[in-house]
Amino acid sequence: MAERAEESQARVAPVGSPQVLRSPPLRDQVRMIRQLLREPVPVLDEIAQRHGSMCLLGAGPLRLAIVGEPSAMREMFTTPIDQFRWGHKFNVLSFVVGAESLIVSDGDDHHRRRSAVQTAFTRKRLNQWIPMIVDRTDAAIDALVATLPPGGAALDLYPVGRRLVLEVAARAFFGERMAERVDELSDLFQLPQAYLEGTALQQFPHRIPRTRRAKVRDNRRELVRLINEQIELRRAAPSGDPFDVLEVLALDGSLSDSEICDQVITLIGAGYDTTAATLAWMLCRAAAEPGLWDRLRVEADTVLDGSVADERSLAALDLATRTMRETTRLHPAGIVAPRETATDVTIAGTRIRKGTLVMWSAYIAGRDPSIWDRPTAFDPDRWSSMSPERRALADTAWVPFGRGSRNCLGFALAQMELTLILARLAQRLDLTATSQTVPTPVGLVVNRPKGGAPMRVASRASIS
Ligand code: HEM
Repeated sequence: MAERAEESQARVAPVGSPQVLRSPPLRDQVRMIRQLLREPVPVLDEIAQRHGSMCLLGAGPLRLAIVGEPSAMREMFTTPIDQFRWGHKFNVLSFVVGAESLIVSDGDDHHRRRSAVQTAFTRKRLNQWIPMIVDRTDAAIDALVATLPPGGAALDLYPVGRRLVLEVAARAFFGERMAERVDELSDLFQLPQAYLEGTALQQFPHRIPRTRRAKVRDNRRELVRLINEQIELRRAAPSGDPFDVLEVLALDGSLSDSEICDQVITLIGAGYDTTAATLAWMLCRAAAEPGLWDRLRVEADTVLDGSVADERSLAALDLATRTMRETTRLHPAGIVAPRETATDVTIAGTRIRKGTLVMWSAYIAGRDPSIWDRPTAFDPDRWSSMSPERRALADTAWVPFGRGSRNCLGFALAQMELTLILARLAQRLDLTATSQTVPTPVGLVVNRPKGGAPMRVASRASIS
């Protein structure tokens, strides 16, 4: 208790000069760092419970600041972005997404690349994707139902969702022209995504042939070739397809071809596993929650009534939206997200030295007991019964997509997709949880349920 009180002092803003972020005892730090890389969730729980949701691990050039305290995070999100770096020494993403990707860029390069991509993500274009998402979900359900015996079967819905998310991304970013090449894209993305979850040792830079790293490099080369071919096609014969983000970038002229390649790989890479993992969590939690699936179905039957879905339909899917929000509160796909301090930075009265890797944690904030009643309970209804004060607090602590000028560029697409897919699945499938135990979370880069989303699945007789 004394230890907890002493450690929690780091959260209190001092009257005078900033305090230094506190560190757990050395032997704990060694264990925590090792565990963080392998099985991060228990370490984050420990930091929340014993270290006031903020602490410093490591020393010298290898310093990690974990920041999960909601008001400290809010301060960090509003700190000018030139005080942080994303193209930092620990960033392993550039090997997969490319050195010109906006996700690993800083300063003017980041601004230019992000702005170019953002013009392709207008609200108007997003709204045009709504019927396409429902249509693709129907196609996935039709294919699934065709394989099911009359009484349904026990199966893992994670790969089904993953494939669906990729198909939506392929249509959204490349339009109809790439629709029939989703399998090829899927194959090229599997290995790089798995590679990013490997240990630091497995990701150590080298050029040895026939290794996993060499294969990831080959896959990237193949992806770049494929995207360049598609850029040429669009320049030679623009289709005017409103879905085609690649066409917008190819004709716009503000990015070079190699920059376009890196942004497209980034968009698919950043959106694919994150959304698929969230979908898996959402299905596990919704299927296990008594009565929720039926309520989702009633709502979906009213809203998705046979007419073409649009932005009004999305807005009317209130329970599905709250279920999505509750899932991302408890199971954010990025349980920690990294940025390096480019200068000494003061957050919540504590000084973080230049060159420290700050890992802010949507996972810790989403379970903070000072913000959330019954923090670990899965309760979509909490979002409809909050007082304005609670809502303001919740707004600070619900950050699965980050905040500020480096927030997730795909946050609107991801939320829209998850909400529509959930509603349509509830409308057309009977799901029964095969276990009431919350799955074990795995993965540091993308947090997903161990074992996927296993459940009993049957077609809803009255519709299919
Ligand atoms: C449930 C799904 C998703 C989650 C939980 C998620 C979460 C995040 C988080 C936490 C960040 C880091 C913010 C920061 O460092 O401050 C991020 C960045 C980013 N996300 Fe997402 N994301 C999701 C889906 C998507 C999708 C669908 C796309 C693409 C369409 C996307 C594209 C990006 C990009 C490009 C960035 C980098 C932004 C920048 O550095 O300026 N994400 N995302």
